[in-house]
Amino acid sequence: MPDQPLPLQEPSDQPDQPLLDVRDLRVSFRTRTGPATAVDGLSLSVAPGEILGVVGESGSGKSVSMLAVLRLLTSPNVTVTGQVLFRGRDLLALTDKEMRAVRGREIAMVFQDPMTALTPVYTVGWQIAEQIRAHEPVSRKEAHARAVTLLSDVGIPDAASRVKAYPHEFSGGMRQRAVIAMALACRPALLIADEPTTALDVTIQAQILDLMRDLNARGSAVVLITHDMGVVSEIAHRVLVMYGGRVAEQGPRRAVFHSPRHPYTWGLLDSVPRVGGPRLRRLPTIAGTPVSPDSLPDGCAFAPRCRLRHEGCEERPELAASPDDAAHHDACRLPAGDRAALRLGARAPADETATAGEPDPSGEADQSGETDPSGETDPVDEADREMAP
Ligand SMILES: Nc1ncnc2c1ncn2[C@@H]1O[C@H](COP(=O)(O)OP(=O)(O)O)[C@@H](O)[C@H]1O
Ligand code: SF4
Ligand SMILES: [Mg+2]
Repeated sequence: MPDQPLPLQEPSDQPDQPLLDVRDLRVSFRTRTGPATAVDGLSLSVAPGEILGVVGESGSGKSVSMLAVLRLLTSPNVTVTGQVLFRGRDLLALTDKEMRAVRGREIAMVFQDPMTALTPVYTVGWQIAEQIRAHEPVSRKEAHARAVTLLSDVGIPDAASRVKAYPHEFSGGMRQRAVIAMALACRPALLIADEPTTALDVTIQAQILDLMRDLNARGSAVVLITHDMGVVSEIAHRVLVMYGGRVAEQGPRRAVFHSPRHPYTWGLLDSVPRVGGPRLRRLPTIAGTPVSPDSLPDGCAFAPRCRLRHEGCEERPELAASPDDAAHHDACRLPAGDRAALRLGARAPADETATAGEPDPSGEADQSGETDPSGETDPVDEADREMAP
């Protein structure tokens, strides 16, 4: 990686103004069986230079919301409403041409499948060089030289000759690095990464996360979507938990991991294996089936799975700040006071939840057979030793 931070496209971002400010985003699909609401009034913001981790089980609307932000949902069966303010401009109101200039230049994207960003018929180097030339008036030769440097920066060995390879000649991890090299090429103010490491093995996963940290250290904000709470605990400054196309909880990483307020977040955290030391014999999982976009309840979307639901939950809970942290919000109709005590009271006996048969949101179900009722090594504390938010 170069030592000097590169200038971002627009150095005028104010640290106290959101870079991205999504307001009341709604995405619905017309399907054969009727309307399906995948994103249901989502509001979120990302500050310049911040890493926002977006978590939630599969189907919670993470990808669809970001595709809507990037205006990549183009089917006539989709309706998108709300506002997506990026540096104060509503992306939903831009022309296609204006939007193309934003995508790739000010906002870069990395998806789970790197082949969505790479064209099989051109060499990797050509594609990176074209990305540079699309945004900067540099010669082919200069762009090619920059592509070699970028590939080397992202850890591709022998970049000078690999630059001539086609995507299919790269491994999955190398392709993902090449896509990140393309993102680095535009020095974006914002990188949106949707499950960028899910398909990769753990070692490569760690390297890709390091690259995101580097990009962030150069000043880019990052929205990192994942279903893996462990990844978020390592890298995010702030965490947003999605359920049923809505925000269930959001706040500083430490607050969400140490004093989670929403029963859904409790479920996700109870599914995370402890790092280091012996682990729980059987992981608790969240009982019940995730809500479907074609049958969102009027009230709390999590109610059918919530042990603490009550009459009041039939009315949709709005996001509200925690009494002791104005930056920490949740949408739950439990009394605002001592949620920690409620969490303890609501904890299911291990055996009852362990048999629930739901997918493990951490993706790392532990079959180790060990028991550790007190295995409390804290993933956030571990991460804090390595990074200052
Ligand atoms: N083109 C589509 N038509 C109908 N429903 C869709 C379409 N794309 C996504 N969905 C639905 O929207 C919901 C949210 O999907 P998605 O954002 O991909 O979830 P996540 O990324 O959180 O796993 C899912 O239930 C999915 O089935
Ligand atoms: S609003 Fe009610 S149903 Fe929803 S999470 Fe809170 S207690 Fe559970
Ligand atoms: Mg997704």
